[in-house]
Amino acid sequence: MKDKINQLSQEFEADSSKINDLNELETLRLNYMGKKGKVTELMTHFREVPAELKKEMGMLINNLKNSIEEKIVALKEKLNQKAVELEISKAKAFDITLPVDTKVGSLHPRTILQKQVVDIFASMGFIIEDGNEIETEYNNFIAVNVPDTHPARDMQDTFWLDNGEVLKTQTSAAQNRILRTYGPKCKVLFPGRCFRNEAIDASHENTFFQIEGVVVDENVSVANLIYFMKRMLNGVFKKDINVRLRPGYFPFTEPSFELDASCPFCGGKGCSTCGNSGWIELCPCGMIHPNVLKMAGVDSEKYNGFAFGLGFDRLVMIKSGLDDIRHLNAGEIKLLKQFKTKIN
Ligand code: DAH
Repeated sequence: MKDKINQLSQEFEADSSKINDLNELETLRLNYMGKKGKVTELMTHFREVPAELKKEMGMLINNLKNSIEEKIVALKEKLNQKAVELEISKAKAFDITLPVDTKVGSLHPRTILQKQVVDIFASMGFIIEDGNEIETEYNNFIAVNVPDTHPARDMQDTFWLDNGEVLKTQTSAAQNRILRTYGPKCKVLFPGRCFRNEAIDASHENTFFQIEGVVVDENVSVANLIYFMKRMLNGVFKKDINVRLRPGYFPFTEPSFELDASCPFCGGKGCSTCGNSGWIELCPCGMIHPNVLKMAGVDSEKYNGFAFGLGFDRLVMIKSGLDDIRHLNAGEIKLLKQFKTKIN
């Protein structure tokens, strides 16, 4: 058996020296290590080896097997390398200065600005949350103080689903869940996509984005609301922006306000962006109605808070100089590409 082992080892050396490519190597491997290969065949005779030689022969066979396996691996690597070199030598020289077709995507202006707004609020200690796109009637309306018979229901044309749920018409729909999760002391920002059954025109979309925020604690004031909104606007426009509040009406806030920002482009003198008024209507807001707090399990005698619902698409349009909201959902690559850097 010892002779047979030595002989096989020499045979393998001779055969392997003639291998030129990976196919030949595979044939060689099967010839020696395959089911009917020479080494496998040799091993079937192992049981005929006298007991006192079994240990020695076992070791020799194992060594042979290992060495053949190692050599096959090494040969494979060598042949692979050879194949690559061959390909390279066949390839034509190419000009590395030729322009490359870089069809790299870019972020949507809405995504870029949302990240900025989120970063600003996160830096002020806000938790950033997500809302559902399908909501229960309870969360979307009832929990924010809009019962069935409330006229405010008519302010929002709603997409109702067959099961009685809705495509959320406002990010406020997440208020109840968020206050239950984080209240009664919390600062939370929750951006989201909203839907309304609207006729679409330059300033109305059926699918649009809002960024909602709530702050609940003891002794929260309108001054706190103004402070946070000013910080956000200063961060977004990278300059000092004035804000003013006008009275508004929303069922979930009392008192309710419309927050205007001094026009970031003309500084309040009047220009085409602000319709010569010097102000831009930006963000409905107010002090959270005690009913909303109560429905979220927050003690409205002890805690109060403010909420705001930024019409985010409008901010994106102002920031990027777009005058038609429809551009934002149209997927017009040529147009969107321009904002890759501009909006930063
Ligand atoms: N949810 C309101 C809407 O879509 C916007 C809004 C107004 C949100 C006042 C608020 C708020 O949180 O306090 O029309």
